[in-house]
Amino acid sequence: MAIKDLKLNDGNAIPGIGFGTWQIPDGPVCVQAVEWAIEAGYRLIDTAVGYGNEKSVGQAIKESHMPRERLFISTKVQGDTKTYEGAKTEIDASLERLGVSYIDLVLIHCAKPWKEYYGVSYKSYNEENLQVWKALVEAQKAGKVKSIGVSNFGPRALANIVDNSSVVPAVDQIRYFIGLDQGEKATTDYCKAHGIVVEAYSPLNTGEILGNTRIGAIAKKYNVTIPRLALAYCVNKGYIPLPKSTHEQWIRANLDCDLALDPADMAYLDSVKYLGSFRQPD
Ligand SMILES: NC(=O)c1ccc[n+]([C@@H]2O[C@H](COP(=O)([O-])OP(=O)(O)OC[C@H]3O[C@@H](n4cnc5c(N)ncnc54)[C@H](OP(=O)(O)O)[C@@H]3O)[C@@H](O)[C@H]2O)c1
Repeated sequence: MAIKDLKLNDGNAIPGIGFGTWQIPDGPVCVQAVEWAIEAGYRLIDTAVGYGNEKSVGQAIKESHMPRERLFISTKVQGDTKTYEGAKTEIDASLERLGVSYIDLVLIHCAKPWKEYYGVSYKSYNEENLQVWKALVEAQKAGKVKSIGVSNFGPRALANIVDNSSVVPAVDQIRYFIGLDQGEKATTDYCKAHGIVVEAYSPLNTGEILGNTRIGAIAKKYNVTIPRLALAYCVNKGYIPLPKSTHEQWIRANLDCDLALDPADMAYLDSVKYLGSFRQPD
């Protein structure tokens, strides 16, 4: 059964599941994977300037012959780009590389430059993020972009935009999979309170979720694979999972995750301990 579209706070619709393209190398592998994804039924394709594969995503879109309005193409201004001019230039370059006349969703990839996001940094990028946001708002007004949002933004960085701009982000794309609910709760609560749709990136923990025996026990109960359960978990939360794969059978299989989970199982999965470290949300 197809996963339902969600409504964004700007009135646009967004597919309830998307195809992730991080770490798919530019060139034939990426073109093929995106073509398989579109053939299989994905309508939301998630790329980023930082993935270096927008050109291949654009080629796959073109070769799919899918009417442009039926696809939902999402890209991201680089996390390290923290100026108005830099963001403006990047959006124009993304349009060019993707070969489209508009992009459905552009996100600020990260609240901080990556080095500082992964390290310890007390520097605030509030002013810089407002400059980048201004470029996104203008691109939206100019019709180059339909919807705008953020990624890797926690409640403080989100509040900076919400409190200082007339445009509320439509989406926050965050790292989210079974076990991360506790670490991301402040962010997802903020999103809920402000009508911001959550996209769940790395919904399979970049493949590492597959070996989790406690999650495996619940998957067995429903007679499904761990990836299917992990994606259904995000859908049951009301978040948009963005699974990535370069294997045709997995690309297809991952679309089949419209599975209602019992509230007790959802609560159990919420409580499953994630053994990695939580990131400090900004
Ligand atoms: N905003 C951000 O900062 C950010 C960060 C990370 C990710 N993302 C987005 O989220 C997307 C997904 O996250 P991710 O790339 O970390 O990976 P993921 O979707 O969590 O996991 C992908 C891994 O799982 C494997 N896999 C996929 N489906 C499977 C299945 N049904 N059975 C067995 N193995 C399966 C894939 O294998 P193969 O590839 O070998 O087929 C790959 O190794 C990204 O591609 C990107 O679009 C965004």
